Amino acid sequence: MDILIKNGTIVTSEEVFKGNLLIKDKIIEKISKEELEVSKDVHVIDAKNKLILPGGIDAHTHLDMPFMGAFSTDDFYSGTVAAAFGGTTSIIDYIIPKIDQSLNEAYSIWKQKAESKSVIDYGFHMAIVPSVESAINQLAELKTLGISSIKCFLAYKNSLMLNDEELEKLFEAATQNNLLVCIHAENGEEIHNLVNKYINENKTAPIYHALSRPPELECEAVQKVLNTASLKGSDVYFVHLSTKSAIEEIQKYKNSEINAYAETCPQYLMYSQEKYEEENFGGAKYVMSPPLRESFNKDYLLQASLGNQIDVIATDHCPFNFKKEKQKGINDFSKIPNGVPGIETRLPLMFSKLVKENRMPLTQFVRLNFTNPAKIFKIKNKGDIKIGYDADICIWDADFKWTITKEKLHENVDYTIYEGEEITGKPIIVISKGEIIIENNSFKGNAGNGQYLFRS
Ligand code: URP
Ligand code: ZN
Ligand code: ZN
Repeated sequence: MDILIKNGTIVTSEEVFKGNLLIKDKIIEKISKEELEVSKDVHVIDAKNKLILPGGIDAHTHLDMPFMGAFSTDDFYSGTVAAAFGGTTSIIDYIIPKIDQSLNEAYSIWKQKAESKSVIDYGFHMAIVPSVESAINQLAELKTLGISSIKCFLAYKNSLMLNDEELEKLFEAATQNNLLVCIHAENGEEIHNLVNKYINENKTAPIYHALSRPPELECEAVQKVLNTASLKGSDVYFVHLSTKSAIEEIQKYKNSEINAYAETCPQYLMYSQEKYEEENFGGAKYVMSPPLRESFNKDYLLQASLGNQIDVIATDHCPFNFKKEKQKGINDFSKIPNGVPGIETRLPLMFSKLVKENRMPLTQFVRLNFTNPAKIFKIKNKGDIKIGYDADICIWDADFKWTITKEKLHENVDYTIYEGEEITGKPIIVISKGEIIIENNSFKGNAGNGQYLFRS
């Protein structure tokens, strides 16, 4: 169906203007400040007093992922439906191979999880887990699978964590294969020692999750990685950054010969460490790695987002039910599956917090949440509103006031950490490649309509 969106305020990564937009054959065919003449069979949407934004890109999700003895509770259907309700029309999910599993086999498993279920377009990053030697020999294959980014975990000792030597080798091989390295930067060795110390002292409550992962251990890991990346001449992308000191370190490399990208997530911009003290084990809802920090970090991250120190806001969506999976850690914080939901709330929350409350220009909001992830991760023709780009569009009510509650969301999990947040702004129509998938608060898309994002 061809669609004319008329009388809206079009927001691109560079400008904001009143205009009209014509979608034909799933592509943005025309953008005009003048009225557009169309035939009668074109579906017309009047976007008067509404914003016309691109479709959101969430560059960091974990759907249907086995982790810490559980599976993240959103699969590629429920997770992408929830994403769509929140204005996101593309995700990049992390493939986590089993130890010693071939990258090709892990890719096939993830592809199978996604292809008949995803309602929006999806791509994959490939995590590299031991044995690294073997993975290095397979990196060249990633190109043929359409994967241009890998992830290394410096945390989660005895499962996903890589050591310094492995990291160095991997950077070298990634650079040779033109792969961008994404890093979970926390010193896993020290964390392991601190976790054991607290458990031995019978300090088992959720707050010790945060205390066993002090901010210094993020900063130190970031420094080490920057040093290695710089020596190897590799670009690097830091996922889910949570501290002021880490951002300051990355800033030192902003005009260097390597590109060092900084990602943060809404949870680190919204909340701080006190959440772990919530009664009745409520702190477990916020257990993720890295943890929430002292509140000056959150304030700094906000300023860094308003400036140009943060490149991407992604969710790290990794849901586990409070009443089920999170209870595994009721007597031991280290057994609480790490991760929080957020795939549906990212854009409304960030619009409200950054644009409405803190006057971030709309163009910058678009760059952080839409354009930069597309550029950095080589997703073609998405993340902006341009002629010839995919018709992934959100029609946005910038004045709609609402309160986030679990009941209003579509994530397959029994809580949201944003319960009760009063916010302004919401997508009211969401279009994925020319098809209206959200309208009148209803989902109108289809499982399996999402296509694989082959990134070269
Ligand atoms: O706690 C988190 N972040 N869980 C997901 C896995 C990861 O480290 O990204
Ligand atoms: Zn991580
Ligand atoms: Zn993650």
